[in-house]
Amino acid sequence: MPLVSTKEMLRKAYEGGYAIGAFNVNNMEIVQGITEAAKELNAPLILQVSAGARKYANHTYLTKLVEAAVIETGLPIALHLDHGADFEICKSCIDGGFTSVMIDGSHHDYEDNVALTKKVVEYAHAHGVTVEGELGQLAGIEDDVNVSAEDANFTKPEQVEDFVTRTGVDSLAIAIGTSHGAYKFKPGQKPQLRFDILDEVARRLPGFPIVLHGASSVVPEFVEMINKYGGQMPDAIGIPEEMLREAARNAVCKINIDSDLRLAMTAAVREHFALHPDHFDPRQYLAPARDAIKAMVAHKIKNVLGCDGKA
Ligand code: G3H
Ligand code: 13P
Ligand code: ZN
Repeated sequence: MPLVSTKEMLRKAYEGGYAIGAFNVNNMEIVQGITEAAKELNAPLILQVSAGARKYANHTYLTKLVEAAVIETGLPIALHLDHGADFEICKSCIDGGFTSVMIDGSHHDYEDNVALTKKVVEYAHAHGVTVEGELGQLAGIEDDVNVSAEDANFTKPEQVEDFVTRTGVDSLAIAIGTSHGAYKFKPGQKPQLRFDILDEVARRLPGFPIVLHGASSVVPEFVEMINKYGGQMPDAIGIPEEMLREAARNAVCKINIDSDLRLAMTAAVREHFALHPDHFDPRQYLAPARDAIKAMVAHKIKNVLGCDGKA
């Protein structure tokens, strides 16, 4: 099976009351850890690449790694551009074999976001590629853009029908209180999401797939391990998994996870060097890092996304 677009998998996820995991990939061990877990659980996957990942690992290397994962697993896998900032990067990814792109016009004013998103949709659809748009702005860090919690804007439900109709997007990312990175709430602050906004968006867009960014749970086990072995992340806090499970049962069909992969990998490498300070063969510490990613993704598929057995 070749790479697939997100169209069918998101439609089935909506109907089935589960979500597809969209995991960020930056190197071979990350691709392998994620896809080995998905294969064992027969789960569909979205592997996504940010502009930073393309800069780090190179477009062709990442594309070929994901194509290798399709050959190895036989799973339906979509290769998706995460947070495309302009038409040019979307076009470059579409021309270069991606099957899905996000155009993130959320930092533009509404009319400019509509115009930019529509332009990407026209090009993408002509090439059989699906498009995710965004309304509202998350707090946190993506590439070099750092949006503070005060500057984040929740999605305005009254805009969503107009946006989806005028742009023709296939899915919509919304801001309901999730944020990028490992510090999603202030220390002592109770994690909360605006489910009222999600419900209103879902009511206005029946059958339409919604996307949640910034959806790592910042798994405490990994944070504790990082801190135990010399790391300094005492205030890291994420989205409680039961909130994500609830969102996945409703209109949320794509859940973006990157920080949890980073934490799993970093925790495993820190532990490895604490236990084996004499090791210097990269395979010795990257193998447990890959295993940690695999275990974390398996846990998400079964307990958060609910997409096991859905490939
Ligand atoms: O939303 C951002 C993702 O976590 C990607 O992060 O831009 O550092 O690759 P990155
Ligand atoms: P996290 O930082 O919560 O993993 O979010 C990742 C994301 O939204 C990628 O687009
Ligand atoms: Zn994101």
